[in-house]
Amino acid sequence: MTHLTREDAEARDAASPLRGRRELFDLPDGVVYLCGNSLGALPRHVPDRLAAVVRREWGSELVRGWNSADWTHLNARCGARIAPLIGAAPEDVTVGDSTSVTLFKAMVAAARLRPDRRVVVLEPTTFPTDGYVAQGVAALLDLELRWCDPADPAASLDEDVAVLALTHVDFRSGAMFDLPGLTAAAHAVGAVTLWDLCHSTGAVPVDLAAADADLAVGCTYKYLNGGPGSPAFVWAAPRLQDSLDQPITGWWGHAAPFEMHRDFEPAPGIQRMVVGTPPVLALSALESALEVFDGVATADLRAASLALTDHLVELVESRVDGFELITPREHERRGSQVSFRHPDAYGVVQALIARGVVGDFRTPDVARFGVAPLYVRHVDLWDAVEHLVTVMESEEHLDPAYARRLAVT
Ligand SMILES: Cc1ncc(COP(=O)(O)O)c(C=O)c1O
Repeated sequence: MTHLTREDAEARDAASPLRGRRELFDLPDGVVYLCGNSLGALPRHVPDRLAAVVRREWGSELVRGWNSADWTHLNARCGARIAPLIGAAPEDVTVGDSTSVTLFKAMVAAARLRPDRRVVVLEPTTFPTDGYVAQGVAALLDLELRWCDPADPAASLDEDVAVLALTHVDFRSGAMFDLPGLTAAAHAVGAVTLWDLCHSTGAVPVDLAAADADLAVGCTYKYLNGGPGSPAFVWAAPRLQDSLDQPITGWWGHAAPFEMHRDFEPAPGIQRMVVGTPPVLALSALESALEVFDGVATADLRAASLALTDHLVELVESRVDGFELITPREHERRGSQVSFRHPDAYGVVQALIARGVVGDFRTPDVARFGVAPLYVRHVDLWDAVEHLVTVMESEEHLDPAYARRLAVT
C-alpha cells in the first residue's frame, strides 16, 4: 500500500510550473485522458479559430486567401512554432504530409547523402510504418536493411551504413534512445541519422542542434495536439539542407512554383521537403493548437512529465498486483508514457475506458498510459489508479464484453 494520498497529488499539482495549463484544453468531464501519446486533446480555442478560417478565410477570401491570409507560409509558420521544442531554428522545420510520407522523403534523402553506402540500420521493435517505409525505400534504392539489437543499436554500425533510422521513444514501452550518443556513434562511422520524434515532441524535449543530428521527422497529432491525422514535421540540419535530394519533387518544393517552369529546381533550405498544396485547414488547426506551448519552458515540460510518470509507476506498483512495468525506470531512458504488461491487458484497458480512464492497448499484452504534461495532473493519475484498483478487485476486466477487439485498440 502506498503512503501517498490524493492530497499529496493535489499538492504536487499546485507546485507544478505547468499548473493551470490544463484549463487551455477542452477535456470532457469525468474523463482521465491518458492517450495523448496517440491523439492529443483539443485545445479550447481551436474550434473558433478553425471556424474563422473556414468562414472568413476560405468562405470570404476564396482563392485570395493564399495571399491575404498567408496560407502559402502555413507550412513554415507551423514549423517555426515546433522548432523550440526540438532544439531547432525556426526556419529549419516545415510541416505538410503524413508522417509515413515524410519518413519516406527523409529516408530517401538521407540515403542519397551517402550514395556509396548500401545499409540502413533500424530496429525491429520500431513503429510498423517506420519499418514498412524502410522496406519500400530499400527496394527502391537497392539498399540492405540491417535490423539492430534495440539494446545496442551502435553495435550494428560500420562503414557500410548510410543511415541510422531510429524512433527516439518507443511506442510500445516508452523507452528512449540516447539521441546525442547514437548520433555521435553514427557520425563516427560516417553515417547519417534519421530520428522519428513522434513520441517525443511536445512531451520530451530534444536538442537536435546540440546533438548535431542530421534529419528528424515527427507527427503533430500526439503531444502537439494538432487533431486527428494532422500533418507531420521534418527538420534537417542547415549544413545538409541544400544537398537534400528528396524523391517527391512536387511544385511546392520548387524554387519558384508560380513561375511554372518545365524542370524541377529545388527550393533552397527545408522548403524543398514540401511537395504539393498545403492542407490549409489541418495546418490552421495545428498552428492554433501549438499556442498552448507559448511561455512553456522545455525543462518544465520534461520535469513535469518525469514527475507524473514516476507518480503513476509508484501508484500502480504499490496498489495492484500482476502488472509488469516495461517502461525504463531510469529517467534518461524514459519518454512520457508508462506501459505495463498484463495477461488481460486488453480487458483491463477496455474496463478502464468504460469508467472514463482512457488509455490504450498494444498487442500482444501491453496497457499503455500516455502522460501529456500540459493537461494530465497528479490527481488524474490518482483517480485513474483508484479505478484500476476497483476494476481488478471486482474483476470487471474479465467481463466478456471487454474481450471483443475493436478496430482501433
Ligand atoms: C513512431 C511512429 N511513427 C509513425 C507513426 C504514424 O505515422 P502516420 O502519421 O503516417 O500514420 C506513429 C503513429 O503512432 C508512430 O508512433
